[in-house]
Amino acid sequence: MAILSIPSQNRSISDPNQIRAFLAELGVHFDQWKAEVEFSDNADQDTILRAYAYVLKPYMEMNGYHVADVININASTPNYEALRAKFLSEHTHTEDEVRFFVDGQGYFWFNVEDGKTPVFNVLLQAGDLISVPANTKHWFDAGEHNPFVKTIRIFIDASGWTPHYTGSKIEQGFL
Ligand code: LAC
Ligand code: NI
Repeated sequence: MAILSIPSQNRSISDPNQIRAFLAELGVHFDQWKAEVEFSDNADQDTILRAYAYVLKPYMEMNGYHVADVININASTPNYEALRAKFLSEHTHTEDEVRFFVDGQGYFWFNVEDGKTPVFNVLLQAGDLISVPANTKHWFDAGEHNPFVKTIRIFIDASGWTPHYTGSKIEQGFL
């Protein structure tokens, strides 16, 4: 179950249809799929991708995505601090960033700069799928302590995945 929060307005939305509508206006696609497979903490990428191939394959074929990988983070992930920092700095991508959460949770933050929508975050959990349009400023946080998340990332071309950091440090104001 996702929760969308707008800190500056003390406002949060937990109804999935309202979240979908809020995000759709910003060009962000949100959906919920079944995510019932249980994995061990050290499940490898292939195991996780294979378990969801039945939904991933049709989605990828329909939308022109060619590559998928898995981010698997838990309390025993080595160098978590450095990994966290990599995701935590505001950045953009030259292509859409699609993520399907299959276990645990994390906060996806948006800075859309459309003149009316303040910085907001969406807590994404198992079953949540999000597709962020290219060039949208965003960052991701699985938390400072006891991180736990498994998420599949889907993309068109592996090179589009490179984060382009804005260097704004805006995320520091929302930790
Ligand atoms: C990513 C998230 C951190 O680029 O936005 O994978
Ligand atoms: Ni990103």
